[in-house]
This record gives sequence, C-alpha cells and structure tokens, in this order.
Amino acid sequence: MIISDRIFDPERSPVDNLTIRPQYLSEYIGQEMIKKRLSLAINAAKLRNEALDHVLLVGPPGLGKTTLAHIISNEMGTNIHVTSGPILEKQGDVAAILTNLEFGDILFIDEIHRMNKSVEEILYTAMEDFQIDIMIGKGPSARSIRIDLQPFTLVGATTRSGLLSSPLRNRFGLIMELDFYSEKELKIILERAASILNVEINEDAAYLLARRSRGTPRIALRLLRRVRDMSTVSEQKLIDINMVEEIMKLLGIDENGLDEMDRKILKTIIEVYNGGPVGLKSLAASVGIAEDSISEVYEPYLLQSGFLARTPRGRVATTKAYKQLGYGNVGGLFDE
Ligand SMILES: Nc1ncnc2c1ncn2[C@@H]1O[C@H](COP(=O)(O)OP(=O)(O)OP(=O)(O)O)[C@@H](O)[C@H]1O
Ligand SMILES: [Mg+2]
Repeated sequence: MIISDRIFDPERSPVDNLTIRPQYLSEYIGQEMIKKRLSLAINAAKLRNEALDHVLLVGPPGLGKTTLAHIISNEMGTNIHVTSGPILEKQGDVAAILTNLEFGDILFIDEIHRMNKSVEEILYTAMEDFQIDIMIGKGPSARSIRIDLQPFTLVGATTRSGLLSSPLRNRFGLIMELDFYSEKELKIILERAASILNVEINEDAAYLLARRSRGTPRIALRLLRRVRDMSTVSEQKLIDINMVEEIMKLLGIDENGLDEMDRKILKTIIEVYNGGPVGLKSLAASVGIAEDSISEVYEPYLLQSGFLARTPRGRVATTKAYKQLGYGNVGGLFDE
C-alpha cells in the first residue's frame, strides 16, 4: 500500500492538492530574492499598464515553478493559459494559442526545453514584437501572413537553463533560479499544509519531516500525506516524532533524506567505478535508469547536499557518501 509508489519522485502526481497551492506572493514561503524581484516587476508593469516582461523559472522538479506561474497571473489579475513543451508539436498549435491571448495574459509553457525547433522559432517574434508570421495555403499559391498579437507574458519553466537555446533564453527579461528550501522554510510549508489538510502535527515532528524532504516542498507534502495515513489508521490524532520515524523506516528513507535509489546510485559509483569519476551514460546504464532521471531528478540534491561531486571527467562519490553508506576507511581515504 504505502510503499508502492516512489515517495521521492518529485514529479507531479494526482495527489497534489490544488487547495494547498499558495495563490499570492505573500503566501509563498521562501525564495525571498525571487519574490522581491517578481513583486517589483509586477508592480511596475501594473503601474505602467503593460504586460509583465517574459519570465523564465529554472529549478529541479517540485520546487514551486508551476505554483509561481499561477501566482504571477493572480498578482497581475490576468488569465493564465497552461501548456507544455512536448504538447506543442506544430507551429499551428502555438499560433492558435497565441492568437487567443488577451492583453497581459500569461502563457505558461512547462518543460519549455522540450519544444521543437519550429515551434520555438515562432515564439521568437511573438515574444519580441508580439507578431507572428504564418504560412497560408500550399504550393505556388502559398503565402506568408503577419498576425499581430496582444502583448502577453510568456512564463517558461525548465529544470536547467542550459537546456534552452540561447536565442530563446535571451528573450526572457526575468530569469529566476529557484533554490532548494531550508528546513525552516519546509517546516512552515508543512505546518501550513497540515492546517489545510486538517492534521495535527507537533513541532518536532514537522522539523523531522522537513529534514527528510531533500529541500523540496512537493516531497515534504507527499511525506506529510503518508504520515497522515498512519495517523488515520492508528487512530492517533497528533503526529509526533515516533510516527514520523516509523514511516521513514517503512519508506526506506535515511536520516539525510536519501532513499533506496539515491543509495543505489552512490553505491554503484563506489563499488563498480571505485568511487568515480564516471560518466553519466555509464552510470545510468549500471544503475538501470534513464540518464535524464539521474541528471534532473536525483543528482541535483546529491550534489547540493555534498554526497556527489561533478568533475570534468564525471561524477565522483564524496567522503560524505562513503561515510553515510557505512564503508570502512579503506586505505585512509578520509579522516576519522
Ligand atoms: N514556496 C512554497 N510555499 C508553499 N508551498 C509550496 C511552495 N512551493 C511549492 N509548494 C507546494 O509544492 C508543490 C509542488 O510545487 P509545484 O507544482 O509548483 O512545483 P514545480 O516546481 O512546478 O515542479 P515541476 O517542475 O515538477 O512541475 C505544490 O503542491 C505547492 O503547493
Ligand atoms: Mg510544475
């Protein structure tokens, strides 16, 4: 039951509850610099009665990019149209959306790095001049017509800005890189969610959950739901530290928030590749998952928390990883 789905998969899932999503900047916890920059740009655009400049949101899954896109539209008081890179296959798809936008509307393109080239090209003039050129008809009678668009705001989300072509990236006026959240921030997010979900959790338990959530709100909220299940089933209303610890054991999550797949990745580097360096391709093949999953989902947190290092020749397991996984100090690899 509980352990069937991977708790740490920070990808969206149907359990993501819309009511937990903050609606305005003031409800959005953490990312202080981003909130300041956004609020300044939004206020200025509103005073000038202009569309907000195009915004690119960059960061690993589950940090709140989609949430921010909706917040931007709420703060601007305009409509939001949601789509994603892989869905926009043809120029016509994106032209249809663009020509329907009203003044100041937000067009949110998730996974914007996964758009194909021809769709991307139509966005260049749309973003820059609020115009698009489309071809009408076929063969000798084909001609290109220019269509004027209403000024709009493109909000793009991507896991790494390096995945975007530079002409596209350069057309964003505001580029915001989201950071992992601190334990304190996650604790606040958890307490807010607990009150919305009508669960009681004490402070220590909230902290412990926050510490195991690898800096990611979506994971924190998912863990909260699992403890809530346990509280429901055990008929113990208040979630305390013991309950959180029991759940963590059940889910195979250690004190640093690493789960089985994280440990498998580190273990493979240590045992199969003598600690590295190892290239992404070989590592993915040995572990048996897609290269993207390693580089976009697992690796960001392992790098940030110091279990993994990236060198020009590949990934290396750090001393911290050896210690955490209980390897002896073979050959005096690290100071005791
Ligand atoms: N700063 C925040 N304060 C409160 N809750 C947040 C915050 N950021 C994210 N959340 C919550 O975390 C969950 C995940 O956020 P969201 O869907 O926006 O992530 P995302 O970055 O778009 O992820 P993905 O890249 O997978 O689409 C949401 O349920 C949202 O309510
Ligand atoms: Mg999202």
